[in-house]
Amino acid sequence: MAFPAQAAILADCVAPENLSIFQPASPAGESIVSLSMLVLAITGGILVVVGSVLLYCVFRFRVSSSDGKEPPQVYGSVPIEVAWTAAPAMIVFILVLVTTRTLWEVKIPEPQPATGDNTLFVTVVGRQWWWEYRYDYYNGRQLGFTTANELHMPVSAAGEPRRVYLKLKSADVCHSFWVPRLGGKTDLIPGRVNTMWLQTETPGLYLGQCAEYCGTQHANMLLNVIVESPEDFDRWLEQESAPALVNETVHRGRETFFRLSCVNCHAIRGTSARGTYAPDLTHLMSRQTLASGQIPNTRDNLRKWIHDPQAIKPGNLMPAFGLAERELDDVLSYLESLR
Ligand code: CUA
Repeated sequence: MAFPAQAAILADCVAPENLSIFQPASPAGESIVSLSMLVLAITGGILVVVGSVLLYCVFRFRVSSSDGKEPPQVYGSVPIEVAWTAAPAMIVFILVLVTTRTLWEVKIPEPQPATGDNTLFVTVVGRQWWWEYRYDYYNGRQLGFTTANELHMPVSAAGEPRRVYLKLKSADVCHSFWVPRLGGKTDLIPGRVNTMWLQTETPGLYLGQCAEYCGTQHANMLLNVIVESPEDFDRWLEQESAPALVNETVHRGRETFFRLSCVNCHAIRGTSARGTYAPDLTHLMSRQTLASGQIPNTRDNLRKWIHDPQAIKPGNLMPAFGLAERELDDVLSYLESLR
């Protein structure tokens, strides 16, 4: 089954490579930008004042070549010291207040799922070097399927928010979830659960990046957030919730796949493959990219990936299995049937 709606979104979305926090598309992003502008204005003002006084003093009180004498040396001045202690203290106090208010706006507590809440709950697990998404609840309905690397969420409308609450965990080392236009960074820390929420009224593809150094392929731990209309999102949910399609034309590929050790790490719902260590492949072909956003999910790339994952993403945890050409083609046709 093709995804015309999704393809259309990907085709006409506004520059997904735009990673500027100064063009926010979410309430949290907007709060962060207004705080950043205020901080930049205050610190910029301080820079101008201090720089001007410094330059003035350097020129005004330089040793003049005519008399060669030092200017008068002054030690200690109560009014000046009070002024330069009180003024920065005031500025810091103001910054603490506005930062607290921003935190308040950005960190709202996660509610309980309830019917009719139009709210999506997803558990995100950071792994070396990809993202696991477990869809928990939507609109009060329990979901319980897992996918990888491409987070789908519904778009909000004015007065009709469709929020996504994320529970962030890590399976190995520290990572950080960061989609600049949708909000700030939140770390994924082993043994801890952090939370954040996303909401936007602008559909499209939003790119992001793991923002905490997590090993060799940290730079290729990319984030893709696809924001689509509630109807398209419902269709996607329904499709992803279903077990894998059984296509008899690829039965030889399926047998090859299940004979190999793929099943120890990968899961395909509705089959005996139940590995939880690597990305869930149930609807592999519904994803636009492979290797955590690194390469487009095309037949050619998928073939190269299975042939030697290390050539594409050195250090990643999937080894090359040295498959014969025919086995490779068989496995490839089976994987391509997972739509
Ligand atoms: Cu994950 Cu850097």
